[in-house]
Amino acid sequence: MRSKLMLILALVALVALALACAPAPAPTAAPATAAPKPTEAPKQLKGELNLLCTPQQIWCEGMKKEFEAKYPGVTVNFVRLSSGESLTRLRNEKANPQFDIWWGGPIDSFIAAKKEGLLEPYKSPGHANIIDPKLMLDNDPNPQWVGIYVGSLGFATNENYLKAHSGFKAPTSLDDLIKPELKGQIVIAHPASSGTSYTFLCTVLQIKGEQAGWEYMKKFAANVLMWTKSGAAPAQNVGKGEAAVGVVFSHDIVAEMERGLPLKLTFPAEGTGYEIGGMGIVKGAKHPDLAKAWYDWALEAKTQELGKKYTAYQGLTIKGAQPPKPELLQVKLINYNFDYCGGNKKAFVDKFSNEIAAASLAK
Ligand code: F6P
Repeated sequence: MRSKLMLILALVALVALALACAPAPAPTAAPATAAPKPTEAPKQLKGELNLLCTPQQIWCEGMKKEFEAKYPGVTVNFVRLSSGESLTRLRNEKANPQFDIWWGGPIDSFIAAKKEGLLEPYKSPGHANIIDPKLMLDNDPNPQWVGIYVGSLGFATNENYLKAHSGFKAPTSLDDLIKPELKGQIVIAHPASSGTSYTFLCTVLQIKGEQAGWEYMKKFAANVLMWTKSGAAPAQNVGKGEAAVGVVFSHDIVAEMERGLPLKLTFPAEGTGYEIGGMGIVKGAKHPDLAKAWYDWALEAKTQELGKKYTAYQGLTIKGAQPPKPELLQVKLINYNFDYCGGNKKAFVDKFSNEIAAASLAK
């Protein structure tokens, strides 16, 4: 699956490049008798779309503006919440949903949301353009979520810490993170609030197996200085020198490096976990037409390519869309089992909160 994903992403990049370089086809003259094609009038959408937005704030703000520019009659109200917080919010609002569509965050949470009856089925014409529908689209005759981006987990190490500690090397394996020299030097989000951190937890459980994985998490927690709310925040903490190492999605690390933070990006050599960022319409959405318009728009290649304008460097999921930094997925990825991680999300997060984080916070 991992190598298949990499092959597909590489092929998509090649096809996109070939299309971009191909000479424009010679215009063909229309037969004199041909009737002019009726042009479809743009849909006159009006109203307010309430968006639950899980990616980076800057991308949420950018996409709000882009959508409002496309549909001048529509105002997008968005709230940026991390994945676990979003799930809790949707759960609490089940009887009276306040959001129309949930855009972004690893699909583990969308799989969990579907299990709890929080999403609405929708068949978008855009589904036909998903590069790997088996992996990136809910395989249900009435799909409730779709993949809109892909991102690999990486380690961010402070360059100044590396310079000041000559014997210390940036981590290149999971086991490097539990070495005693990193005691109190790791920052990561809490998996109850963050999809990034949950991806790390479920990666560990898959690489090591559940029993050894939970043992590993105890040792890992002993090295953690701070559990943040949002998954991307540790890249900033580490960049500012508050700790040596952060576990963060690689695209968020690269974005902070571009903003000037002194970070080194590494990956675990045994393979790293990855996310498929999801999207789904909220069950009982009050503005279903607007939600569908956003959903369809988010599955256009041009829309996905807007990400890089807002320093969002995730890989893309639509045929023909040019990924901004394909190298971030050309690393060894594990065969991440989204059904396993999504289906067990509540149980794993509860176990983590009760048995690992509680002890870690009490230290
Ligand atoms: O910052 C962007 C991003 O890393 C997305 O790629 C990801 O889906 C989301 O944040 C996860 O956020 P959190 O870990 O806060 O739930």
